Amino acid sequence: MSEWFETTADILTKVWDTLDRGVIDADHPARRPTLATVSPDGWPEARTVVLRSADRTGGVVTVHTDLYSDKIKSLQPVPRAALHIWDVEQNLQIRLQAEVAIARAPETRTLWDEIPDHAQQSYGVTPPPGTPIETALDYVKQPDPETFAVLHCTIIAIDALHLGADHRRVSYSRVGHWQGQWLSP
Ligand SMILES: Cc1cc2nc3c(=O)[nH]c(=O)nc-3n(C[C@H](O)[C@H](O)[C@H](O)COP(=O)(O)O)c2cc1C
Repeated sequence: MSEWFETTADILTKVWDTLDRGVIDADHPARRPTLATVSPDGWPEARTVVLRSADRTGGVVTVHTDLYSDKIKSLQPVPRAALHIWDVEQNLQIRLQAEVAIARAPETRTLWDEIPDHAQQSYGVTPPPGTPIETALDYVKQPDPETFAVLHCTIIAIDALHLGADHRRVSYSRVGHWQGQWLSP
């Protein structure tokens, strides 16, 4: 019987299945990818986020964030990001490169209304995220739909690395219609 990592088509399906799992399963490693951007002064920057949706047909994943966070300041001049997942159970590293569109109120209002109260706490804080404060708790959480942003990450390229008895690496691109290209690992 053949294994999922033996063909580029099956690996691509595994990548999307993994992203889908991340969206619905809070305990899955794909739930919390690392999102990397480039700061306005050219520094790489990375942080953990929660994967909110994954759409294979459109090749889009989404992340929720605070409109006043530094990642937005980075994405405005350079609307590009990388997402990284290491799924230890499948021995699969997934790297995505994406162009990012930032959606904000009023476009995000319907989605905001569907978010549970406790989760809304993540969007809206005074002073804004990253502001220096005198002591650790000198801030007030103020859930605010005006600060809620959705990052629509249109995937441009995927790099998948499987570390089995053999190592297999494959790249896919939107421009290449997601045809797999084996790479030396
Ligand atoms: C488990 C975990 C999940 C997180 N999920 C998100 C998220 O979905 N969106 C978000 O903006 N920040 C999330 N954060 C916080 C970010 O990692 C980061 O600290 C914050 O967004 C500020 O990043 P920035 O200054 O680079 O914008 C999460 C952090 C952790 C540890």
